[in-house]
Amino acid sequence: MPPLRVLQVSDLHAGTREEPEVEADLGALVGETDPELVLVTGDLTHRNGRAQHERAAVLLRSLDRPLLVIPGNHDIPRWPPWRFTSTFDEFRRQWPETEPVYRSERLVVCGLNSVRPWKQQGGALRGAQLEHVARVLADAPPGALRVAALHHHLLGAPWRSRKRTIANRSTVLGRLVDAGAELIVSGHVHQSAVGERREFEVPAGAVHGTTVATAPGLGQPRPRRRGEARGLHLFEADERSLRVLTYAWAEGSWAQIGDRRFPRGTAPLHSIG
Ligand SMILES: [Fe+2]
Ligand SMILES: [Fe+2]
Repeated sequence: MPPLRVLQVSDLHAGTREEPEVEADLGALVGETDPELVLVTGDLTHRNGRAQHERAAVLLRSLDRPLLVIPGNHDIPRWPPWRFTSTFDEFRRQWPETEPVYRSERLVVCGLNSVRPWKQQGGALRGAQLEHVARVLADAPPGALRVAALHHHLLGAPWRSRKRTIANRSTVLGRLVDAGAELIVSGHVHQSAVGERREFEVPAGAVHGTTVATAPGLGQPRPRRRGEARGLHLFEADERSLRVLTYAWAEGSWAQIGDRRFPRGTAPLHSIG
């Protein structure tokens, strides 16, 4: 059976620095890699404009793959009272649900809405959302890859950023791991970072692998900032391992610049002795 593939794009920021060739070649990349699902982790637009949402939706639907789309902090009105009274209205014109779930025999993805209108940049998850993700993942078919997706990142990249990780990050991370998530994906910071649970946690006994991945941005609204990468992640899973392939847009084409592999389940990739 061919490996399961999921493509993640994040932070399109439609309405800024549009380069049609990035989008055309994204279609070519999807055709070449044949993902089961395209997962979109928010900031579809830069200013939540209707035309910006339409533009992002046209691009994503042109990929002709199942889509799971969640909002980011740029996908809500900038100012009160609309920020509070019609928070997700424009997003919902294109994507009726802010917490969609994707289910197949090989893959279950639970989308989580971490956007909070009273926070300027930051995000959070409520207890009820963490209970929801636990229920969704507990219901996954045996062997299916269990994924939690949210906009705000849990893992930061080396460059300094004023963007904070999700509120109560350690608690959220612990709850998602305990919910059985094997892969946790985010965006928001426009920089890539990938780590596996056993790289940052002292596990008690045999624990299942959890890979945490923050995607670079597909859009690049602030190109003069050094810490703003343009790229995407492709995940590839078989029974024993999960690969994270990083692609960057460089000099007019998508180039694969990273290939990291982590264990799924309790067995390591390789044992000595
Ligand atoms: Fe963003
Ligand atoms: Fe964001």
